[in-house]
Amino acid sequence: MAGATRRPVLVTGGAGYIGSHTVVELLQDGRPVVVLDNLCNASAESLRRVERITGLPVPFVQGDVRDAALLDDLLARHDIGAVLHFAGLKAVGESVARPLEYYDNNVTGSQVLLQALARADVRRFVFSSSATVYGDPESVPIREGARTGPTNPYGRSKWFVEMMLADLAEADGRWAIGNLRYFNPVGAHPSGLIGEDPSDVPNNLMPFVAQVAVGRRAQLSVFGSDWPTPDGTGVRDYIHVVDLARGHLAALRRVESTPGMFTVNLGTGTGYSVLDMVRAFERASGRAVPHVFAPRRAGDIARCYADPSHAEQLLGWRAQLGVDAMCADAWRWNCRNPDGYRGAEEAGSV
Ligand code: NAD
Ligand code: UD1
Repeated sequence: MAGATRRPVLVTGGAGYIGSHTVVELLQDGRPVVVLDNLCNASAESLRRVERITGLPVPFVQGDVRDAALLDDLLARHDIGAVLHFAGLKAVGESVARPLEYYDNNVTGSQVLLQALARADVRRFVFSSSATVYGDPESVPIREGARTGPTNPYGRSKWFVEMMLADLAEADGRWAIGNLRYFNPVGAHPSGLIGEDPSDVPNNLMPFVAQVAVGRRAQLSVFGSDWPTPDGTGVRDYIHVVDLARGHLAALRRVESTPGMFTVNLGTGTGYSVLDMVRAFERASGRAVPHVFAPRRAGDIARCYADPSHAEQLLGWRAQLGVDAMCADAWRWNCRNPDGYRGAEEAGSV
């Protein structure tokens, strides 16, 4: 399959946070890409920034993964060799309020995409799943064989797609599928040109902390100080988005060489508490992050961190970057782009 490695990689959701960082790594690895994104939670400015980082063009199709005709056309025009499927909705609270939108986008979207890929005879596929499929884990660190059972519609949408992929790999041995369960992606590209750009008040810890440090928000609410953890605050496995992006390259190499389906955790294996992360961000930024303790957030869990050894054994990948780099890079991105990509769009600059 060596000759197949330079066929373009279709990156759905490639204008988003993790997708844009992965496109950088793909291009820097000499792999052409085609990005498909409907821009429902992203700006095309991210792709212009990727072009600036890499000095390479990023072919972009604005469209929806649920649009079968568009997919057939795209796959007829481009000699796609493999697909990284990031496109989807990801806000837990929103998924509780609007479950059908989540099942439609995440589950139906994946199904329509897979059907189009089968028609086009493209059967190398890497899926963005989440540690959220483990629900409240019985023990940590979490191995891939642990019990799954997500606790909200977003998590279930990921879980259903995982099961659809397992059934597909079982039914047809031509498919090569990588199922990647991400832990908590944070940080930004070290250039400061691309990063996480929440369109609303951030739900996740690190974008919120960054906005407090940069002065956009007054203080952080720490959700719970009575968790059964060393300092009473929630513990998570934060992984630098550049490490995560590189994990996709390793997964891609695997699906290019080996049929069947594999599932791996992409995490660092180390858990940090909310207060650990606040202190790390204060060190990296030189700014105070004022915070107050607040009640636990509904649906939260005490601890969640990976056993990442399977990814290392199977893919030869392990995370390299620590919390200081995560915070320094997130800080650089936030300082240079206090209004995210919107600032550049308004100024008309790239
Ligand atoms: P993101 O919202 O920044 O990126 C998703 C991209 O998909 C966006 O650019 C959006 O415009 C696009 N999109 C959404 N629906 C689409 C559709 N129907 N057709 C075409 N494009 C569509 O999110 P992200 O953080 O980069 O996450 C990428 C993937 O990883 C998602 O599937 C998400 O569920 C998964 N994931 C994310 C995290 C996280 O914490 N960020 C954790 C685990 C898993
Ligand atoms: C959340 C999602 C999860 C998703 C993950 C990565 C929920 C219930 N879970 O998980 O499905 O896979 O994001 O996108 O939303 N915290 C604060 N104050 C804040 C924000 C967060 O104290 O303003 C705490 C949380 O209680 C938690 C930690 O920070 O202990 C991390 O929170 P977050 O970044 O939202 O990630 P997860 O809770 O792991």
